[in-house]
Amino acid sequence: MTPEHPPLLDPPAIDPPPALRQTLAGDYYVSDAVFAREQEHIFENAWFCAVRSSDLASPGKFKKVQVGRESVLLVRGRDGLLRAFLNVCRHRGAQLCTEPEGEVKRSIRCPYHSWTYALDGKLMAAPNIASLTDESGAAIDRYRYGLVPVALTEWLGYAWVCLSDTPPPFEDVIAETTRTLGDSDAINRYGIGGLDVGHRVVYDVAANWKLIVENFMECYHCSSIHPELVGVLPEFAKGVAAQANIGLGAEFGSQVAGFTVDGTAGFDRLPGITEEQDRRYYAITVKPAVFINLVPDHIIFHRMFPMSASRTIVECDWLYTGDVVSSGRDVSNSVELFHRVNEQDFEACERTQPSMSSRAYRKGGVLVPAEHHIAEFHEWVVSRLGA
Ligand code: FES
Ligand SMILES: [Fe+2]
Repeated sequence: MTPEHPPLLDPPAIDPPPALRQTLAGDYYVSDAVFAREQEHIFENAWFCAVRSSDLASPGKFKKVQVGRESVLLVRGRDGLLRAFLNVCRHRGAQLCTEPEGEVKRSIRCPYHSWTYALDGKLMAAPNIASLTDESGAAIDRYRYGLVPVALTEWLGYAWVCLSDTPPPFEDVIAETTRTLGDSDAINRYGIGGLDVGHRVVYDVAANWKLIVENFMECYHCSSIHPELVGVLPEFAKGVAAQANIGLGAEFGSQVAGFTVDGTAGFDRLPGITEEQDRRYYAITVKPAVFINLVPDHIIFHRMFPMSASRTIVECDWLYTGDVVSSGRDVSNSVELFHRVNEQDFEACERTQPSMSSRAYRKGGVLVPAEHHIAEFHEWVVSRLGA
């Protein structure tokens, strides 16, 4: 006998009872048109965490970063300042740097016709330029034809850039970050800006950036896919995310010595943190594309780079004190814990992505009460897109 199935083309409408809330519709995660609007209205308007400042430690070091639809060049000047520019030659528009990162001596030279820019963006030289005038007949203003600057500010040891002509106050980023901790000074005590990168992994995730945000915001999945994390933070088995416990985070299990893959001891706790911050894990989502994880002896800092509707690069830094890094101490036990968490999370997101275009998900799915705070993220996205 053939079992009866609902018709494939017309699945039953989801009409959630009060305890459930609707997610975004599947199209939000696969549509190129939605992704283009997100690039324009979200990533090109927000402060975007681009590079770890210490990656560009000396003059001439540069990195190329995709921000929304723009290629942005971050470069350390001869004066020691970090600056950001659009990676576009002012002559006829060639991309100046095609390598993801590198080092130049004193200038950036366009490979097409050799216009050459100082590290502060000024047009230094171009073939035959001395005899040229601008349209009004005046001598060429070397800054007017210099690289187009992008707003940049440094915080927590990272360079944040904003493509908007009128960037929102950076204080909003700080306020969002500190809100989860319930104390405006709590994040400063970790001294994140002064820490060193002990390890970095770049993940290429076949999933929409919003699935990664939503996954990070909830812990309903923790007991299913994160055995090592639940081993260290037993309360995560209940499915309540650390972000939901404003100011409290999640407490280490009584037998756990450190935030490591096997619960063995990590390193000395960071010098500035309080007793209350010891033996606790805090997780912060900084919309649109940053996650910060705080534990007593290190920081795990994620930056997302949305590349398409279905692909996101995630760069994850493990930050330790300079002493730990310079002494060459073995950080693998703590790295391994969150590396596994990342792999488990990204596998879950990649498992979800293909279903976003299924007719079963045409109207989206549902959020259980432990995930209801994700609805605020959805509302934020929708409000930004003006949809
Ligand atoms: S496009 Fe760069 S020098 Fe011509
Ligand atoms: Fe997770």
